Amino acid sequence: ETSLTGKDLLTLADWKADEIKQILHYAIQLKKEKQPKQLLAGKTLGMIFEKSSTRTRVSFEVGMLQLGGHALHLSSRDIQMGRGESIADTAKVLSRYLDAIMIRTFDHEIVEELALHADIPVINGLTDDYHPCQVLADLMTILEYKSSFAGKKLTYIGDGNNMAHSLMIGSAKVGLDCTIVAPKNYKPKAEIVSKAQEIAKESGAKILVTNDLKEGIQHADIVYTDVWASMGWEDETNERLEAFKDYQVNIESLAGANPDYIFMHCLPAHRGEEVTGEIIDGPHSVVFEEAENRLHVQKALLASVM
Ligand code: CP
Ligand code: NVA
Repeated sequence: ETSLTGKDLLTLADWKADEIKQILHYAIQLKKEKQPKQLLAGKTLGMIFEKSSTRTRVSFEVGMLQLGGHALHLSSRDIQMGRGESIADTAKVLSRYLDAIMIRTFDHEIVEELALHADIPVINGLTDDYHPCQVLADLMTILEYKSSFAGKKLTYIGDGNNMAHSLMIGSAKVGLDCTIVAPKNYKPKAEIVSKAQEIAKESGAKILVTNDLKEGIQHADIVYTDVWASMGWEDETNERLEAFKDYQVNIESLAGANPDYIFMHCLPAHRGEEVTGEIIDGPHSVVFEEAENRLHVQKALLASVM
């Protein structure tokens, strides 16, 4: 086992495949323990939120409590950062009080800047470009349901957003094939696709992007989708409804997926938009197990880096 103490989690690209797998196996072990050990007694996590959250906020806060530590919810509306105090000063000050910082924000560079100036681990709780904690929970869920990554295929259908980016990177690391199906103006960022394909050379994973849903869904073991308008893009909701209308996950679009496919969604979901109720509430859906796994995987992460 490698020591992960002091490590930041900004994107999964910064982590070695073995380090990611170590967290996943640790999380599976923690999930089995009924009486959590006080691994973080007396430790404190600060959680900066510049966007809304249900799962990330609650799972980090509960996770810290279960490990014997404490979490502080720091809304950017309340802290001085929201009034223009620099990220560097915020990082230096918080490093004197806390043992780690989790941040959810807009530009990915804000997280990089915070990590650069902080003396304590910084965890990305979602940016416009990445959502690594979600993908750790997703990979854990895939391991639970599919037992391994090699030879398995994940098809993500929808916006080439933070989830698409982090799923490509995470899949490339662990050796899971990943196809992103997105309409032409909503493809994932080209430089992130290249990065994932570069990483995939080591694991042998196939990372593909297409706008052809019929082709992309073929032999999928895992079907994944996310909202069409992410936080910060609400103004584009109407044009996105139009652009994505042929990319809904429903009974017809799933033709071609393997019969034992699982359906995943990071949540929150919009039933009737990116996915029908029939699918997300149906027998193949694992979305609530996936949501629960945020708690277990983040406990493993916190206990490892703090
Ligand atoms: N999946 C996820 O990150 O959910 P929240 O926005 O509720 O934290
Ligand atoms: N892509 C979504 C994910 C929410 C967890 C967003 O950024 O709003």
